[in-house]
Formats: sequence, C-alpha cells, structure tokens
Amino acid sequence: MSTLLELSGLTAAYGGVRALDGLDLHVDEGEFVVLLGPNGAGKTTTMKTVSGLLKPVSGRILFAGQDLAKVPGWRRPGLGLGHVPEGRQIFPDHTVLENLALGGFPTRRRRAETERRRDEMLEIFPRLAERRSQLAGTLSGGEAQMLAVARALMAAPRLLMLDEPSLGLAPLKVAELFGYLKRLHDERGLTILLVEQQAGTALRLADRGYVLERGRVAVEGTAAELRDDPRVQAAYLGRLHQETA
Ligand SMILES: Nc1ncnc2c1ncn2[C@@H]1O[C@H](COP(=O)(O)OP(=O)(O)OP(=O)(O)O)[C@@H](O)[C@H]1O
Ligand SMILES: [Mg+2]
Repeated sequence: MSTLLELSGLTAAYGGVRALDGLDLHVDEGEFVVLLGPNGAGKTTTMKTVSGLLKPVSGRILFAGQDLAKVPGWRRPGLGLGHVPEGRQIFPDHTVLENLALGGFPTRRRRAETERRRDEMLEIFPRLAERRSQLAGTLSGGEAQMLAVARALMAAPRLLMLDEPSLGLAPLKVAELFGYLKRLHDERGLTILLVEQQAGTALRLADRGYVLERGRVAVEGTAAELRDDPRVQAAYLGRLHQETA
C-alpha cells in the first residue's frame, strides 16, 4: 500500500504554547486510522495543520507525495483533503441541498459531476434525501453530522479527516454514523483518519491507530494491538468493551 499522508517531526504551537511536539504518523491509501488520546493531546491540532488552518512551526506534511508547506489551506480540498472539523460547521440558513452544493466547491466547474455526487450522497444518506429542502439549522444533531460528512464527501476527497463526529450524539446515532463510515471504507475504499473519544467503538472500525499524549505519539499499532495494550486500557478505564456500536 502506498502512503497517502505522512507527518514527520511535526511541531505546532499557539502563541508560545506547544501543542504538537515532533509528531510522526502516516495513513496509507485505503486505510482507516484512528487518533486517540486525552483532552489537549493535540488531536484537533494535528488535523488543523494538515488542512492548513494552522501553520506548523517545523516538520513536514506530505500528501500523496507532495509537500504541503507551500500549499495554502484553501487549495488543499482540491488536492483531495477532506476535513469535517470539530463541531460540524454546516451552514444553518441553507437547505440540505444547498449545503451539499457548497461542499462541491472544488469541483464546481464540472456541474454534471457535482450533481452526480449530490445524488450519490442522497443515496448513501437516505435521511438527508428525505430532508433535502429543510434548513440545515433545523436538523437533529445526528442528521447535521451526516450532512457535515456528506458535504465533505462532495469534494471527492482522497482522505477524509473527521474530528469527533460522535460528540453529542445519542448512542444509536453514533452507531448509525459509524456504520456509514465503515461502509464508505469497506465498499468504496475511502481512506479515513478519525479522531474519536469512544476508543472501543473506534478500534472496532479502524485498521490501525495512534494514541497521542502531549503532542506526540505515545502508542501506535493495529487496532487489535491497541485494544490489548495495557496503557490504552488504563487510559480508557476499561470502557473499551462497554460502548455501543
Ligand atoms: N486556539 C488555541 N489557542 C491556544 N491554545 C490552544 C488553542 N487550541 C488548542 N490549544 C491548546 O493546544 C493543545 C492541544 O489542543 P487540541 O485541541 O489539539 O487537543 P485535542 O487532543 O483535540 O483535545 P480534545 O480531546 O479536548 O478535543 C491543548 O493544550 C490546548 O489547550
Ligand atoms: Mg479536539
């Protein structure tokens, strides 16, 4: 398998406060990788540096072999980087269909392609099809999260990064959303990097994972290795086997 995303020696800071401290990780083409770790470990910061919302202090980000240092954030979706940030950030005063159209921005010049993908999203997420003309601000939490994922998929990303998509969702909605992610990975070969607090659930879906602590990788391995790792079990207080989904 070829490497799609590779971070090496990545250091990032907010003002003088270091959030990433020499982070090394990679995601291969077709993989489903989970990023775990306590609050403040640097998971969100990792995604922000990859999508270009935050400029690293040092280190390198390679995406599909290209060094992203000189690629501005607004051009990265066009390269195939999809990011569903913490807290969804859909457009509440636009309908479901309008939100999807906005997600097709990098391909907007190919209108037929945008419409084809929109129809595909409505097929993958039938609940969005039922609510296509509803304002996004009136969707339930789970529906809004699905819209955020569908919108990111509109740009046909090669890598989809999701930052805690389960936050605030009821267990059944989490199971439904993760079911979609699993199908996108299994059936369409979508490459996924997922930040998730529900470690047990995430490790059942993922191929491989990393546990971040204080801005660096503390543990890495296959999903099975992480599930059996005493450090992971200690960090998640034996909750690994109690979660739903
Ligand atoms: N905008 C900011 N300004 C200053 N410090 C920040 C900012 N965003 C994050 N930090 C700090 O950077 C560190 C890493 O934060 P980050 O958001 O990446 O953590 P996280 O692993 O995503 O945590 P969580 O699980 O709580 O979402 C933390 O110490 C945090 O306080
Ligand atoms: Mg975070």
